[in-house]
Amino acid sequence: MKIKIAPSILSADFSCLEREIKRVESAGADMIHIDVMDGHFVPNITIGPVVVKYMRRITKLPLDVHLMIKMPEKFIDDFVAAGSDIITMHIETISASRFEFQARRLERKKVKVGISLNPATPFNKIKDVLDLVDLVLVMSVNPGFSGQKFIPSVIPKIKKLRSIFTGDISVDGGVNDKVAGRLINAGANILASGSYIFGARDVKGAIERLKNAGKQ
Ligand code: DX5
Ligand code: ZN
Repeated sequence: MKIKIAPSILSADFSCLEREIKRVESAGADMIHIDVMDGHFVPNITIGPVVVKYMRRITKLPLDVHLMIKMPEKFIDDFVAAGSDIITMHIETISASRFEFQARRLERKKVKVGISLNPATPFNKIKDVLDLVDLVLVMSVNPGFSGQKFIPSVIPKIKKLRSIFTGDISVDGGVNDKVAGRLINAGANILASGSYIFGARDVKGAIERLKNAGKQ
């Protein structure tokens, strides 16, 4: 599978968002990862649909919207209207049957569907919804903030998932060139990465190092 890199905009300088998006776009980013936090599901508040709407005007790259919010159903339509290409919900925030309903709606609107799970959430929790999703976003930190340390115990979860799932597997949290190889070899094909990419002086080099990490 082709390895794709999703720079996480939360680590960007928000005073010049357009420049930051162009910086990763020209450096080879495959999509933009957007962390939406509500201060309830996670202890932080970040981006709403209005920001996504303006990001949509700046780039043609797919917008990969990661909803870390307690009531995702309330806001899905707003994020779709804002121009999201992928909408990922957390299994900790929605039942399988409610998720199915939303996934089918998104499918009709030609928006890709993702499900995410926290490091402590067992793989079994997402089993029933795997048939409904294009993407599984495996959290490798406890969601809430950029710049946290990667939790290596999620690697067996990625391997297990890849043994039964042919869609996209994205890993999010603490991803850098030191862990990327292990993630790709375990079966991940998308790496979401914030501080490693936006903190790099050579962003192109950082993205290339992540993309090629599985080759060694
Ligand atoms: C964590 C977010 C991540 C985060 C990644 O709650 O979902 O997307 O911004 O940032 P780094 O790569 O710095 O951990
Ligand atoms: Zn994220």
